[in-house]
Amino acid sequence: MFIAKEIQTAAYLFASILFILSLGGLSSQESAKRGVFYGIIGMIVAIIATVLGQGVAGHVYIISAIAVASVIGLLLARKVEMTSMPQLVAILHSFVGLAAVLVGFGSYLDPKSHELTGAAHSIHLVEVFVGIFIGAITFTGSIIAWGKLDGKVPSKPWAFKGLQTMNLVLLAACTVLGVLFCNAEGTGGMLFLLIMTAIASFIGVVLVMAIGGGDMPVVVSMLNSYSGWAASAAGFMLGNDLLIVTGALVGSSGAILSMHMCHAMNRSFFSVIFANGSGNGSGGEKKAIEGEVTALNHEEVAALLKEAKSVVIVPGYGMAVAKAQYPIYDMVQTLRKEGKNVRFAIHPVAGRLPGHMNVLLAEANVPYDIVLEMDEINDDMPDTDVVMVIGANDVVNPSAQDDPASSIYGMPVIEAWKAEKVIIMKRSMSAGYSGEDNPLFYKPNSEMLYGDAKASVEKLMSFLKA
Ligand code: TAP
Repeated sequence: MFIAKEIQTAAYLFASILFILSLGGLSSQESAKRGVFYGIIGMIVAIIATVLGQGVAGHVYIISAIAVASVIGLLLARKVEMTSMPQLVAILHSFVGLAAVLVGFGSYLDPKSHELTGAAHSIHLVEVFVGIFIGAITFTGSIIAWGKLDGKVPSKPWAFKGLQTMNLVLLAACTVLGVLFCNAEGTGGMLFLLIMTAIASFIGVVLVMAIGGGDMPVVVSMLNSYSGWAASAAGFMLGNDLLIVTGALVGSSGAILSMHMCHAMNRSFFSVIFANGSGNGSGGEKKAIEGEVTALNHEEVAALLKEAKSVVIVPGYGMAVAKAQYPIYDMVQTLRKEGKNVRFAIHPVAGRLPGHMNVLLAEANVPYDIVLEMDEINDDMPDTDVVMVIGANDVVNPSAQDDPASSIYGMPVIEAWKAEKVIIMKRSMSAGYSGEDNPLFYKPNSEMLYGDAKASVEKLMSFLKA
């Protein structure tokens, strides 16, 4: 059974509107669920309208592939931990890149495409070349990003002299190959296409390897953007309007998100895209850390909290790992009942994905009005009695402000050290995701409270209630 072209176009238009509504919905926590729902409906409409489109053959294979892929997707989505979400997103981006590469080769080898003549033929060749180029960069770049996020590839930036020049030479080589490819007869350009694919795959590896752990948020959103453009390019090759529109939506929203991320991290968009080493760090000798690390036990910290009038909680990746948001909110409620001013300070890149902390706190029903952004709360730090840093590290690292050699130098951070007392809750003295040591732990007003975040907060509660 096929549907008429007009019905397919109407379905595509409907799906595009749903995708736009979906993106709109995702812009706030209250409407996010609705946004996801629009996206799901839009995707179902898009798939049905495409599979039932005129000229589509092999329905049994297509439906079988969709069924198998849906089961795999469902199983993976049910199994994946919230803390592993960024890795999943990165690997899904790599699939989009690979799909664009495969569509590009398929489209080039399709005899029908060689029946095109004149400008239509040239445009098609450019679509194939650019689509494969972006797809290959997205594919390998996303695999490296997955490895870095999963701890399989070191997060230390891969930097050497001449990196920028090498990237420019590789880019120039791809441009020359593109010209040769577009001027080749028949499928004679295959060799140029294969060489360019190898070079683009290498560029993808280099671009992401050169980024330090601290700047990974920008890379993830940038790869999201690349995957959108790769999908859009595949849409041009397949002559599928919906894929073009959807790809452009993902590509542009990912680019906007990357710019916001760069702004939040005080990074130049171009220096990150072109892998200009890691962020702003000069790479020179790091400042020696002065001071001594001191620790308190749970009873002592509970006593401090009982005395405090204002408390700020800075959550980080460790809170997500420990799933400590529920007991933390219990503790917040207990402290608030005693008339204390308790608020959360959220750094834009705390955790491993945009909005990670906001999602977890919303999950635990923490009211939005006590969850403040870094910029909203930093000025209040000097008037705060106790700051509790729970499983956070890089986002409270003072080196970002005072050590030009640090790879996170220049990144705005939550100025926890300005408070009267800082309690740092983590399991050991290990470094944060960027790999940088944290001088905050050595400050005279800082105290460590060692242990798993969830177990520690539960223990604190037992003392607070006693
Ligand atoms: P991190 O710097 O990654 O530090 C997290 C800390 O949590 C670690 O030092 C770890 O210390 C502690 N921890 C781990 N498990 C714990 C547990 N069960 N209980 C208590 N503590 C635990 O976290 P952050 O401050 O949130 O900073 C985020 C970093 O990730 C930034 O560098 C950011 O650029 C990067 N990043 C962010 C994103 C996005 S979009 N948010 C994406 C990719 C990368 P112990 O091992 O000693 O416990």
